[in-house]
Amino acid sequence: MSAHLLLHLAAALLLSTGVRAYSDKTVEIVELVVPESPKDGEDVTLTCSFHLVGKNHRLYTVSWWRGKDQFYTYKGTTSHDPKHAYTFRGIQVKVDESTERSVVLKNVSEETSGIFKCEVMGEGPSFRTAVETKAMNVVVTPKLVEIHTRPFLDPPVFHIGERVNLNCTATGAKPRAHLVWEINGQPVKEQVSRYPDFEDQRGRVTSTVRISWEPPAYFLKGIAHVACHALVGGHTTTATKEIYLDPASSAAFNHQYASAGCQLPTTWAILSLASFLLARPFPIGRHRP
Ligand SMILES: *[C@@H]1O[C@H](CO)[C@@H](O)[C@H](O)[C@H]1NC(C)=O
Ligand SMILES: *[C@@H]1O[C@H](CO)[C@@H](O)[C@H](O)[C@H]1NC(C)=O
Repeated sequence: MSAHLLLHLAAALLLSTGVRAYSDKTVEIVELVVPESPKDGEDVTLTCSFHLVGKNHRLYTVSWWRGKDQFYTYKGTTSHDPKHAYTFRGIQVKVDESTERSVVLKNVSEETSGIFKCEVMGEGPSFRTAVETKAMNVVVTPKLVEIHTRPFLDPPVFHIGERVNLNCTATGAKPRAHLVWEINGQPVKEQVSRYPDFEDQRGRVTSTVRISWEPPAYFLKGIAHVACHALVGGHTTTATKEIYLDPASSAAFNHQYASAGCQLPTTWAILSLASFLLARPFPIGRHRP
């Protein structure tokens, strides 16, 4: 096949697709990005990627809605002042950061939650339109995640024969935080029990999960690294604590001490040096003027 013929074929192909598209203007929303469960207090970017199919198919408007509230419009037909934003409960648009394809919501809260809709309209006379919707549910991560020992111990030191009881409390989450215990980097599901939740008037839940075990389990060289993860809508808040096993009560510690042979001669050396110095006559005291 000659290069000439190839060129002709390519041109014919281009022309035919062009003709088809011209008579077939459509609008396609390629992707609507709405975070499913952002954290309250965050700024959130919503993105609506679209295609205007067809020759000379220009944008008329992009409009954004939450339920029945139209909170942002971008006009494609005017280069002067194309953005318009409207304020609603829980909705405040950062106009400067918003564009033809995205809109930024400032400081979202539970009140922001709802069904979000992007509507893209092509220019007249056909005003082809595409619509896409997605739900957003703003979550409240716990104000506080804490690990408590009982009785309150600082530093937390336990003894052999004494059960370790730890509580993890996540305060004020919505929805309820899922609490996961971890010891020395490993998730632990046994010996975990849940206390009743407390829910305030705003539906924010304080929840407590206990972990309880018998030492020396989980203590490595007298220390257990404990973590509690509070998960809410894909966000994690973590509390950590190091708890100790009283060395005097721990066989592991005694063994460790005995095997650390070099420490004993050092101690003896210091002691014998001290007694040697004390046994000697005190030179300054015996000095006569
Ligand atoms: C965000 O909104 C909350 C109320 O929903 C308000 O208390 C807080 O001060 C706001 N924060 C900022 C940085 O605007
Ligand atoms: C854990 O929390 C429960 C319920 O608040 C309480 O009764 C219990 O004494 C707490 N235990 C510890 C180890 O803090």
